[in-house]
Amino acid sequence: MWHTVARVADLRDGEGRSVLVGGVEVGVYRCGEEFFAVENVCTHAHAYLHEGSVDRVRCTVECPLHGAEFDLRSGAVLSPPAEEPLRTFRVRVVHGEVQVDLGEDG
Ligand code: FES
Repeated sequence: MWHTVARVADLRDGEGRSVLVGGVEVGVYRCGEEFFAVENVCTHAHAYLHEGSVDRVRCTVECPLHGAEFDLRSGAVLSPPAEEPLRTFRVRVVHGEVQVDLGEDG
């Protein structure tokens, strides 16, 4: 099921935003003309990743608490102390709206 989370025009390149989708904290990011969605709570402890710094060229986010770095495309951990990858979610753009699919209904 697709959920509208932002308008394309409202997200700047390199910007991350927190949205609550079906009870899940999701971070939505823009890297150039691409959009990505990952779980917004760091897998190391409890920090909101959208408050960290985004590298819009490499498409990564650095956790604001202890500095773990994650790949926004795959959710992979690029640097410690986090060890577990982030959940990622499908994203699409329809009529200027960014939509996220949690995959809860296949
Ligand atoms: S809470 Fe994110 S690296 Fe520790």
